[in-house]
Formats: sequence, structure tokens, C-alpha cells
Amino acid sequence: MVSQGSEMVTLTDRAAMHAWSMEQRQEGRRIGFVPTMGALHAGHLHLVKQSLAQTDRTVVSIFVNPSQFGPKEDFDRYPRVPEADREMLAQVGCHALFYPDVASVYPEGFQTTVAVEPLGSELCGRERPGHFQGVATVVTVLFNLVKPDKAFFGLKDYQQFVIIRRLVRDLGMDVVVVGVPTVREADGLAMSSRNRYLTGEDRTRAVAIHRAIGAAKTAFEAGEKGSARLEAIARRILIDAGIHRIQYLSVRSADTLMPMKMIMTDGVILTAVKVGATRLIDNVLLTGSPS
Ligand code: PAF
Repeated sequence: MVSQGSEMVTLTDRAAMHAWSMEQRQEGRRIGFVPTMGALHAGHLHLVKQSLAQTDRTVVSIFVNPSQFGPKEDFDRYPRVPEADREMLAQVGCHALFYPDVASVYPEGFQTTVAVEPLGSELCGRERPGHFQGVATVVTVLFNLVKPDKAFFGLKDYQQFVIIRRLVRDLGMDVVVVGVPTVREADGLAMSSRNRYLTGEDRTRAVAIHRAIGAAKTAFEAGEKGSARLEAIARRILIDAGIHRIQYLSVRSADTLMPMKMIMTDGVILTAVKVGATRLIDNVLLTGSPS
């Protein structure tokens, strides 16, 4: 189904999405794509603006993908604010919103799973078994429906970005995957739809996450190249701030996410912690460039 609100078109099923994309391609327009699960914030809008600047037509999808949530995770309470999202996208100049229901993404009889392994079982994958299979599968379906020339992903979800980049290379997909630096609140907290779960005290405590990995980056830039030492610097700051539930805190190769004893160039420090009931992730590149 297609509906036209102001300038932005809303597409709600496979056929409409396919037809819209084919029309853009026939007109020679380059399509930029920003996949999201909605509850949009300034970080998402930054991705949309990058797409608007680099392509001719921008599609944003909003789909809370059930297959990437574990049975005890927050699928049911994940924030859903479609009207506010639609308004924000229209204002920023997005051309099309793809807002499918579950049956449009996973039609009856759906059996296919896309797994990027062992990358998908590392780090977040260890804590959230099956999560990245859900992500890789839905992104493959969405890429096939939207047919983008470029797709934009936030580097806040760094492992997701590396997995999608691997997937696209492995399967020979004709899409350029663009990683966009993390947008942060004024106090450094990485923007996330899940930040709205944080209570006042937890919100204050959460600031230590960026402080911790930022201190590791400062030490790296000052000459410390040992992964264990960099991890220890960040861990100390988290613990001193009262963040004890550290699911992982790891220095890896920025390219492959393989563990490395020493980082000479192109590393990344990644972490996932629980602050109160909320799981938060963040990372910073150990390369001198922002993330
Ligand atoms: O990053 C997200 O919001 C999701 O993982 C994505 C890429 C939209 C797939 O559901």
C-alpha cells in the first residue's frame, strides 16, 4: 500500500516498496537507505541527513524486528512511536518511509536464516544468542526490497556494522555500506532509543561509559598499545562509577573484530554493560578519528 502524506510517501508492503524502488532506478536516481526500528532520535536523523546528502532519494524503514530479540528481551516494550517518527522524517526531507508489518517482511512459510559466523557469536552475540542472525536476515530481506545503492548504519552498533559489511562482501551484494560516527548527548552518552529506559540515577551513572572508553583512547593516543592495559584503564573507571555488570569490555581489530594483544593502528574498544535494568553498548575507535 502507498499513502502520500505531505512530500513523504509511506509504503507498507513488499509490492509497494518494490514498485517505488524500481521507479527510482528507472529514473536513474540513486537510493539511500536507513534501516531503523523507530523511536527515532538525533542519531537516526544524522544518518538520514547523510543519505540525503549522498544520494538522490532516501528511504527509512521502521520495523521492530522480532527475530533479533531473545525470549527474555524487550521486544514487547520496545518504544513504538510511529506518528512522532513519521513527523520527524517528513520534516528532515526523507522521501519514503517503509513501514511494513511482520507478514510483509516474513511472509507465511518463511524459512531462511542468514548467519555471519563466527563474527555473530562474538561480543554481543555471546550475550544475545541469535541476535545477529535476526539482524543479518532482516537486513538481507530489506536490502532486496529497497534495492539501495548506499545503506547507512550508525557506528554505535559497531559489531552490527562490521557484520553487515561482511555480509555484503560475502554475498556480493551491490550496496555500499556507510558507517556513520556515533551522535552523543552533550555529556558524552551515545544516543540510543533505549536511553529512555534509564531512570535519573542510572542516566547519571551511564555517562561513565563514554568516559571509560574515552580514557582508553587517550591512553592509546599517548602511546599505550597493549589491549589488556587499555581494557584495565576503562574497566577501572566503570567500576569506580558503580557499573559492575560489565558483559564485555574488549579491544579488537577495527576491521575484523578479532582480539589483538597489541593495537598499532585501527583498533576499537567496545563494551556492553548493564546500568540498572538497561543494557547499553558503546565503542570508540583507536585510530585518532571520532566514533
Ligand atoms: O540497528 C537497528 O536498528 C536494527 O538492528 C536494524 C539494522 C534496523 C535491523 O533490524
